Amino acid sequence: MLLNRLPGLIRDWKLDLVVVNGENAAGGFGITEAIYHDFIDAGADAITLGNHSWDQKEALVFIERAPRLIRPLNYPAGTPGRGAAMIEAKNGARALVVNLMGRIFMDPLDDPFAAIDRELIACPLERGADAVVVDMHCEATSEKQAMGCFLDGRASLVVGTHTHVPTADHRVLPGGTAFVTDVGMTGDYDSIIGMAKDEPLGRFLRKIPSSKFEPANGPATLAGIAVETDDGSGLAVRTGAVRLGGRLEEARPAFWA
Ligand SMILES: [Fe+2]
Repeated sequence: MLLNRLPGLIRDWKLDLVVVNGENAAGGFGITEAIYHDFIDAGADAITLGNHSWDQKEALVFIERAPRLIRPLNYPAGTPGRGAAMIEAKNGARALVVNLMGRIFMDPLDDPFAAIDRELIACPLERGADAVVVDMHCEATSEKQAMGCFLDGRASLVVGTHTHVPTADHRVLPGGTAFVTDVGMTGDYDSIIGMAKDEPLGRFLRKIPSSKFEPANGPATLAGIAVETDDGSGLAVRTGAVRLGGRLEEARPAFWA
């Protein structure tokens, strides 16, 4: 779905920067080097990860030669790769893209608030970067909203990922940061968070695994969030939901219609 639709969206909406969360791109489990290059070739400028970063073991190695692949910043010191990257956007602007992971109902990692605070002190919006995009990969809506509040006025966008379910609360916060609690997944919504329904349902009913999780392969919805930023401040001017194809009601930013 992404490979089919992204080139047209970049052209029609004149997108300067495309950030994709790719942690489930390899059939639900991590990302391979081949998929990384497919996404970059389709027009993605940066690819973020999350708790499934290392499901494909090759990612531990190829991330070192994949400068646009970004794993959570608050992993332990010594983790391969990078948690933040300065990305040159399609219009030549400098965008700092950061991946964070929450700690509620997730693995206990370093404090994501302290980690992003240090990062943005070193590289603040406007003086250090023309845009700052923060992917807050996290289960709890409260922790994602707290990160939005914490970074309001210091990031162009704080976007929640991980639950695979889009929330309807996309907005520009009072300080000028665009925010959505969860952007949702790109995939088949006739599923249980992207997986064919029988196996996850069976595990809820019987508590006994009977086969592997397999991705649902019906018509996919492309889910995202669009942001227009101010050229001077780098803060958000407006934001809109993107949901195209598949089973969800279509949404596209009115300002780009
Ligand atoms: Fe995740």
